Amino acid sequence: MADGTAGWARGALLILAGLALSATTAALAIAQDKEGYIGEARCATCHKLEQEHWAHTAHAKVFRVNPGNALATRGCEACHGPGAKHLQDATDKTAIIAFTHRRGTPVETQNAQCLQCHKGRQRIFWQGSVHQTSQLSCSDCHNPMAKFSVSGLLAKGSISETCFTCHQQQRTEFRKRSHMPLPEGRMSCGDCHNPHGSVTRPLIKADTVNQLCYACHSEKRGPFIWEHAPVRRDCLSCHTAHGSSHESLLVVARPFLCQQCHANISHPANLLTRSNLPRGAWPDERAVNRSCSNCHSQIHGSNHPSGARFQR
Ligand code: HEC
Ligand code: HEC
Ligand code: HEC
Ligand code: HEC
Ligand code: HEC
Ligand code: HEC
Ligand code: HEC
Ligand code: HEC
Ligand code: HEC
Ligand code: HEC
Repeated sequence: MADGTAGWARGALLILAGLALSATTAALAIAQDKEGYIGEARCATCHKLEQEHWAHTAHAKVFRVNPGNALATRGCEACHGPGAKHLQDATDKTAIIAFTHRRGTPVETQNAQCLQCHKGRQRIFWQGSVHQTSQLSCSDCHNPMAKFSVSGLLAKGSISETCFTCHQQQRTEFRKRSHMPLPEGRMSCGDCHNPHGSVTRPLIKADTVNQLCYACHSEKRGPFIWEHAPVRRDCLSCHTAHGSSHESLLVVARPFLCQQCHANISHPANLLTRSNLPRGAWPDERAVNRSCSNCHSQIHGSNHPSGARFQR
């Protein structure tokens, strides 16, 4: 009898304890789930402005309307990680994954968050690329918190502006007299480079420099009956890609450009003045202006049966 009472009492206690436990779990479930996610609505109670700006981005639209995976349904926490600890102490810098330099989350941790969904495509060669090994974070170039650029969620208004924050030297080069229309906004660094990595140095978007140039200057691809060896070998034998103080992006002014490889004795070379002087009051009109190209006008190759010297 005494045993029976004790057994009943123990049973009741267990039930009560069970009830209490499930009550606590239920209370917690409102605040966070098993992994510590608290939900976008909760973030917005303190980060209203950030949420409003973020709402205009591709992520917000896709995550809300058509989440591709379970992570996307987490909203803010898809990138920033579970927020429960952050809720307890917002000043604890290790409690949430942050992407600003001042906050000090390791770059590897930051990038791993983004790569959960963005491993493939343009980032196939991210691992080991010069930007990855130089410890760049995705957020050095991307700011997914608002729509700062038309496309690509960039940190600045355009691709080139984004690159210029670090590559000042290239900005200077593109300001030289001869340059492709990049400062004019008709092309960008991203037309020639893949900032996420490439098999071709330096981050070139094609298998070789020439293949890159042919993509837009297809007429230089040929085939030609008469080929000019250095053109086939490397456009950069004569051109720079970013900018030059000489016309047509040439690395050196003519005739010196040609004379780097062609002897300046007899014809062809020292045609600068009729008296064979490099400069003077009476320069050889055949060599002024476009210099050697006055006659050798098909310098990239000729398809004329008699074009062996690239004059036609
Ligand atoms: C109770 C208010 C509160 C809530 C809720 C909250 N935060 Fe915060 N959060 C703060 C405060 C305050 C700071 C600034 C702390 C500091 O300066 O050290 C902060 C800082 C941050 C930072 C670091 C900013 C930086 O400097 O890089 C991130 C990222 C962040 N919060 C994201 C979130 C996310 C995501 C959520 C939802 C999961 C969230 N917060 C929910 C109050 C909150
Ligand atoms: C796609 C990933 C991603 C999502 C989703 C995201 N963030 Fe961020 N968040 C970032 C990155 C990257 C930065 C760093 C931006 C920078 O360089 O200033 C950042 C910065 C912040 C900061 C620091 C202040 C600032 O603007 O720089 C806060 C606070 C923050 N996020 C809160 C939120 C909240 C709240 C949400 C949801 C409404 C959210 N984030 C959604 C990636 C994300
Ligand atoms: C939960 C998955 C997920 C995470 C995490 C995530 N993204 Fe995205 N991201 C997407 C989806 C989905 C899209 C839209 C569809 C697409 O373009 O693939 C997108 C689009 C983008 C775009 C292109 C936007 C456009 O307008 O073209 C950029 C850039 C981007 N994400 C960068 C980042 C960065 C940087 C991070 C880390 C801070 C990040 N993403 C984290 C899923 C994610
Ligand atoms: C050095 C600058 C730079 C870094 C670092 C960088 N990106 Fe990008 N990213 C760009 C540029 C430029 C574009 C092209 C934007 C456009 O076309 O408008 C781009 C495009 C994207 C896109 C959209 C196009 C696509 O491939 O679907 C995604 C997603 C993206 N980046 C993710 C990332 C992730 C994830 C990281 C970090 C692992 C990262 N990026 C690091 C510069 C960078
Ligand atoms: C946060 C700074 C930063 C930004 C932004 C940045 N880069 Fe870089 N970049 C570096 C660093 C650091 C290196 C490696 C050191 C060096 O060669 O200067 C590098 C190297 C390079 C190289 C040379 C690679 C090699 O093999 O020599 C290219 C090309 C390049 N970046 C292109 C870009 C393009 C295109 C953008 C814009 C989409 C960009 N970078 C944005 C920091 C940056
Ligand atoms: C027309 C194609 C093209 C464009 C546009 C372009 N680059 Fe380059 N870039 C190249 C080529 C080709 C090289 C290789 C040069 C060499 O090997 O001498 C290069 C080299 C580089 C290097 C390595 C160091 C150097 O200067 O040789 C960096 C860094 C770089 N580019 C950054 C940029 C940035 C930043 C932009 C945008 C402002 C940009 N590039 C635009 C084709 C381009
Ligand atoms: C994304 C397209 C694109 C690529 C790739 C490209 N170019 Fe250009 N290039 C242009 C455009 C656009 C112009 C301006 C043409 C015009 O104004 O009619 C130009 C102009 C030029 C000019 C004439 C410049 C002048 O001052 O008259 C030279 C030389 C040139 N490119 C060489 C190259 C070389 C070498 C490469 C490879 C490293 C290359 N381009 C790759 C688009 C490109
Ligand atoms: C042997 C030196 C040399 C090589 C190599 C060379 N170019 Fe040129 N390129 C020139 C000269 C010289 C001019 C100026 C022609 C003129 O003034 O008529 C020029 C002009 C150009 C122009 C602008 C005028 C035009 O003809 O469209 C483009 C574009 C161009 N080159 C692209 C290329 C490409 C692409 C390659 C590589 C496939 C290349 N060049 C290789 C010497 C060279
Ligand atoms: C990087 C070296 C280099 C540069 C710079 C260069 N060439 Fe050449 N050129 C060659 C080579 C190599 C040949 C092929 C010679 C052969 O087949 O015997 C050649 C062939 C020629 C030929 C045909 C001659 C023949 O014997 O078949 C002419 C004409 C010519 N170049 C003119 C020029 C002119 C004009 C310039 C300046 C715009 C120039 N080259 C710049 C290397 C160069
Ligand atoms: C006034 C026109 C003219 C000018 C300017 C000119 N050339 Fe020529 N060049 C020719 C003709 C014509 C030939 C063909 C001779 C032949 O077929 O026997 C030739 C032949 C050549 C050859 C082939 C080798 C040879 O001796 O037959 C080379 C290399 C050459 N020129 C380079 C140059 C260089 C470099 C310059 C500039 C410093 C230059 N040329 C300026 C007209 C010119």
